Amino acid sequence: PVRRVTAIDIRARKGGAPIVSLTSYHAHTAAIIDRFVDFILVGDSLGMVMHGLETTVPVTLEMMILQGLAVMRGSSHALVVVDLPFGSYEESPAAAFRSAARVMKETGCGAVKMEGGVRMAETVRFLAERGIPVMGHIGLTPQSINTMGGFKVQGKNDESAAAVLADAKAIAEAGAFAMVVEGVVEPVARAVTQAVPIPTIGIGASPDCDGQILVLEDMLGLSPRVPKFVKRYGSLAGLIEEAVSSYADEVRARTFPTPENVYKVKN
Ligand code: KIV
Ligand code: NA
Repeated sequence: PVRRVTAIDIRARKGGAPIVSLTSYHAHTAAIIDRFVDFILVGDSLGMVMHGLETTVPVTLEMMILQGLAVMRGSSHALVVVDLPFGSYEESPAAAFRSAARVMKETGCGAVKMEGGVRMAETVRFLAERGIPVMGHIGLTPQSINTMGGFKVQGKNDESAAAVLADAKAIAEAGAFAMVVEGVVEPVARAVTQAVPIPTIGIGASPDCDGQILVLEDMLGLSPRVPKFVKRYGSLAGLIEEAVSSYADEVRARTFPTPENVYKVKN
């Protein structure tokens, strides 16, 4: 069996060849992307992508564990990182440890991710010192949508830029092995990457980040609405429509199934 990429391997990639990442919530998509990416994120974006929720706020630990297990079964090479969902870690380092340990024990994943900078630094340290590799997530943090007033790009003025930089430094110092930098103006995302000794993984950030991540369904053209930062590398919605339309036509015309699609009795 292949040895999986570890959080330590990702940490060591600072300033080197770009780190490639995509999300997956699903065994079969995990199997397809496994050999192309360095890590797979089981993101809480699954609430929106799989369940049609408006935000990630309602996502539960049980949902993350179920899909984390599916992705672990489907993959064998990439590091699997599972998001801690809203409400499962913010209250205290002890609460965060319990949630993160449950995710790691029940899925076998190699790391967890949590949103927040300065305010979560103590928690990042608590987990990192106790055997849990933590990926940070700063800038636009979707779980805070109800206090941010919408999905807003961060770092647009000096005050906001300084806050993003302080967040990045705080979680790097606290022992995170990498951090997602989401929805941050390009010069600030670049400055963050230069300011911290751990890899930055950009999404709506900068080409100078140490790696990039996208939501798989967004880049495949399956999601109905996508943010400006998404580049579409495929048009899966159209392919599914064509296939389903052909199937429906053939069933109605009784041209499917054909003799090759049914079982005969052997004599
Ligand atoms: O939940 C998610 O998919 C994420 C990525 C967009 C970074 O957190
Ligand atoms: Na997320």
